[in-house]
Amino acid sequence: MSYAALSGKKIILGITGSIAAYKAAALTRLLVREGAVVKVIMTPSATNFISPLTLSTLSRHEVQTQVMEEGSWNNHVALGLWADCMLIAPLTANTLSSMAAGACDNLLLAVYLSARCPVFVAPAMDEDMWHHPSTNRNLSRISADGVKIIPVGHGELASGLTGEGRMAEPEDITAFLQQFFAEGQSLKGKKVLITAGPTYEPLDPVRFIGNRSSGKMGLSLAEAAMARGAAVTVVLGPVHLPETKSGPEVIRVGTAVEMFHAVEAHFGEADIIIFAAAVADYRPEMPAEQKIKRKGDELMVRLVPNPDIAAQMGQRKNYRQLTIGFALETENELQHARDKMAKKNLDMIVLNSLRDPGAGFESDTNKITIIPAGNKAEEYQLKSKSAVAEDIWNSILQHFGDRL
Ligand code: PMT
Repeated sequence: MSYAALSGKKIILGITGSIAAYKAAALTRLLVREGAVVKVIMTPSATNFISPLTLSTLSRHEVQTQVMEEGSWNNHVALGLWADCMLIAPLTANTLSSMAAGACDNLLLAVYLSARCPVFVAPAMDEDMWHHPSTNRNLSRISADGVKIIPVGHGELASGLTGEGRMAEPEDITAFLQQFFAEGQSLKGKKVLITAGPTYEPLDPVRFIGNRSSGKMGLSLAEAAMARGAAVTVVLGPVHLPETKSGPEVIRVGTAVEMFHAVEAHFGEADIIIFAAAVADYRPEMPAEQKIKRKGDELMVRLVPNPDIAAQMGQRKNYRQLTIGFALETENELQHARDKMAKKNLDMIVLNSLRDPGAGFESDTNKITIIPAGNKAEEYQLKSKSAVAEDIWNSILQHFGDRL
């Protein structure tokens, strides 16, 4: 990690009304010590927990709490544009729900809605509040909007209970930001092409052969690559695409043949190509023009092979392009994955097995083994697909960074 990563970075520190607000003083001091320029915004209730005077002294900037202050207007849009990042620490359940709903009844929320920079939150709440389904829902909502959530700690809580929900320590929050800014440059200037989701191969106008891929793994890889500065194009099969504030370029396709043509059209300009889609290997040779009617005891459908997109691109790639595939296996996993990597001329293959609970299709988690060509397999624990995406990018950069 680069310890100069925060030097000169302009940070808006938003503080909400939680007992953990006392840690904002140490956090401000740390960020300033790392070279960041910090401007503090407090919600009105945060001022009950820590004095604006303490924070203006430590940040060396006036603290702002209201949209209108003594006859003058705080320009939330200008503040949002000024910052390299906004950090809300501590984040209460109340402000979290306002962010998820897009509410705007104080300066902090107005700046949040106007900010074009990355936004980080460090939640702080009691364990039961932290585990409440509505907290979960609101966190998923803001996470889909692109907000980065700094994991909570475990320990003594203000209620006197011990458990999950403590705000991360100022050192950990600072390290999280440092890592983000250091990684933020790691794919700068690179073009990434990703396939994601299933393909649907029509049998007739209403039926198809498909699979349960949700596109989550590929879209997590896309989001992580964008956060590292890459220009990302996703060729996405027929799945619901979550609305995000600033997502990758998405090309929608239905069938494997359509996916092949879309990949072919963008392959030449891509530096790194990841095949995360679950592509049907076969399609009905002659989809019926009208809905197939039930008649007789059996129905024969002749299937013909689809193009193997990864294999064909593996033949066409030049010396500076990296191709990375996935292997979804159910038995003899490592051997099948290595065979696929060789057959498709991949630089790396990511194995996920349907024998591992929580891995593969649909879930928000995955458990992977990364096999870089010519190297030992690297096994990972079950993690969220976003965390898995970070592991994959870290491994790509570790093994092939010098080729990029
Ligand atoms: O989308 P999610 O619900 O998040 O699930 C993620 C996932 C399980 C789909 C993903 O992690 C994954 O494993 N994707 C690849 C699934 C697959 O089809 O694996 P395969 O072993 O059949 O194919 C091997 C590789 O060749 C894959 O990179 C695949 O994209 C590619 N392929 C396969 C067939 C084909 N005709 N063209 C291809 O490009």
